[in-house]
Amino acid sequence: MQSLRGRDLLSLADLSLDELSGLLALATQMKSGEIRVRCPEKILGLLFRKASTRTRVSFSVAMYQLGGQVLDLHSGVTQVGRGEPTCDTARVLDRYLDIVAIRTFAHSEVEEFADFAKMPVINALTDDEHPCQILADLMTVQECFGDLAGLTLTYLGDGNNVAHSLMLGAAMAGMNVRVATPEDYAPQPMMVERAQELAAGRGEVVVTTDAKAAVEGAQVLYTDVWASMGQEDLASQRIPIFQPYQINDGLLGLADKQAIVLHCLPAHRGEEITAEVIEGSQSQVWNQAENRMHAQKALLASLLGVA
Ligand code: CP
Ligand code: NVA
Repeated sequence: MQSLRGRDLLSLADLSLDELSGLLALATQMKSGEIRVRCPEKILGLLFRKASTRTRVSFSVAMYQLGGQVLDLHSGVTQVGRGEPTCDTARVLDRYLDIVAIRTFAHSEVEEFADFAKMPVINALTDDEHPCQILADLMTVQECFGDLAGLTLTYLGDGNNVAHSLMLGAAMAGMNVRVATPEDYAPQPMMVERAQELAAGRGEVVVTTDAKAAVEGAQVLYTDVWASMGQEDLASQRIPIFQPYQINDGLLGLADKQAIVLHCLPAHRGEEITAEVIEGSQSQVWNQAENRMHAQKALLASLLGVA
């Protein structure tokens, strides 16, 4: 694939279809051991304002496997948590690090950081998008079904950061995307329009409140928590509103017989997904979580210009 050397990944919409396909292919070849690359002198910074298990550990292990180093720069141990301006932090860290992954609240913060830093900046989750997650998700779907184009993926639950990035990535890949949410929890209209543009007439992008209709015949069912980080206070009041969007045996029974179930994790069993489904034979969540590491290793190698 063509290297993404020096680029940022703030949104999946930053990639062309060729670049997305190239990254997925590279991740698959790295996972199988067909391609091995090294970047021994490179240092990745993880600048996180929110908790993380998968993203933090998978980025760290990926960088170690590439022979590089990792600095954990949680906002609580840096001046970031005490309000140092992003434009200052970006220009300073740019003098030390080779690449940075940022997890924060406002998407504008990663955009501002990228404006002030020359090194590649990776969005490791904002309130609006979670592009690294979707690289792993699409890789997992490819492993299960081969070609992505023409498959139907249904996302159920909150129209959040994961839903946004999933719409963008799956639409770009030519999948049919159905997003089913309660009325006031639909994805941002701007994201829906962008996904429709990226679909370029190859697949449909549909937003609905009808969970059952959205699931019918789908090959991939996907859900995420009903209250994201920063929305903890709203969690209990959302439970009855989101109940019809729970992935359970009833809803799964309406999907394609071969359907797989994905969840970015962490999961709340009994809320957005039942224990039976997440632990069941159609669940791919553990492979999906593993693929975070392979997909991000490919991303790091490409942005650092070693693959
Ligand atoms: N899916 C995901 O991003 O998990 P973490 O919040 O644990 O990183
Ligand atoms: N939507 C969730 C994803 C967690 C990986 C959140 O932002 O908390």
